[in-house]
Amino acid sequence: MTPQDYAYLSKLLNERSGLQLAGDKQYLIESRLLPVARENNCGSIGDLVTKLKAFAEEPLRRRVTEAMTINESFFFRDKTPFDRFQDTVLPYMQKIRGASKRLRIWCAASSTGQEPYSLAMMFKQAGAAFAGWKISIVASDISTEVLEKAKSGLYTQFEVQRGLPIQLLLKYFKQDGDQWRISQELRDMVQYRQHNLLDSFAPLGMFDVIFCRNVLIYFDSKTKQDVLSRISRTLVKDGHLLLGAAETVVGFTNLFAPMPEKRGLYVHAAAKKPQPQLAAMSA
Ligand SMILES: C[S@@+](CC[C@H](N)C(=O)[O-])C[C@H]1O[C@@H](n2cnc3c(N)ncnc32)[C@H](O)[C@@H]1O
Repeated sequence: MTPQDYAYLSKLLNERSGLQLAGDKQYLIESRLLPVARENNCGSIGDLVTKLKAFAEEPLRRRVTEAMTINESFFFRDKTPFDRFQDTVLPYMQKIRGASKRLRIWCAASSTGQEPYSLAMMFKQAGAAFAGWKISIVASDISTEVLEKAKSGLYTQFEVQRGLPIQLLLKYFKQDGDQWRISQELRDMVQYRQHNLLDSFAPLGMFDVIFCRNVLIYFDSKTKQDVLSRISRTLVKDGHLLLGAAETVVGFTNLFAPMPEKRGLYVHAAAKKPQPQLAAMSA
């Protein structure tokens, strides 16, 4: 792949997804795009770029963009956000939504489903605490390919060995050939949507909790600011935002405030003088 081809592909990816490729991702891009080139009767990445330039075919552009996304995910990734969800967000929501018994959660950029399914398992594990509640977990990603895998709920032995406690594997998964499939009951708790974070969030509705993890890190500052500011309008006033371990709002927006001593957990800055219940739970 020539530097010109790499520059063309980086620009295409950035325009369509907001993702920025670091200068050293040639090898990754080549390995991702060679199969796409072959599928499209192109002998090389160079031929694929020529085809992209010659024909503005939407399906090919989409396919190439999706193939360049980084989809790394695993169950209970980084553990801390799930601990905060368990020890801070859930008790708070249980109290303030106790009357309506409704909770909407959004996993933005959910990749292959391990994040929303980790949350679904936590609700199941909570047992009676959320019995009778309407819990809605919406999981979205730009890539239709990862969403198909997420919907299937089918994971390899390697994938279920990453972060998933053995007792949860045995309780919620069944062996399917040499893979493991998560139970229908848990799959039914998650609604998958194809959604680009550069597009409007309005069709998704409002959420009590938003997980937006390990995607902002790949955006430039302007895109981070824009996405965070639109997230603030999609999160209810007393909602919670959880970011990835290497991500922060600091320096990008003052619409959110970190919760003291709760790394990765944010509330609306306007709610910084915490409501009594929130203060009690973060103590
Ligand atoms: C590294 S994965 C993170 C998955 C999960 N949130 C986690 O932390 O394990 C990043 C995901 O962001 C998705 N993505 C990248 N750009 C996006 C965009 N503009 N809109 C929606 N999803 C995007 C990718 O397709 C990929 O699946």
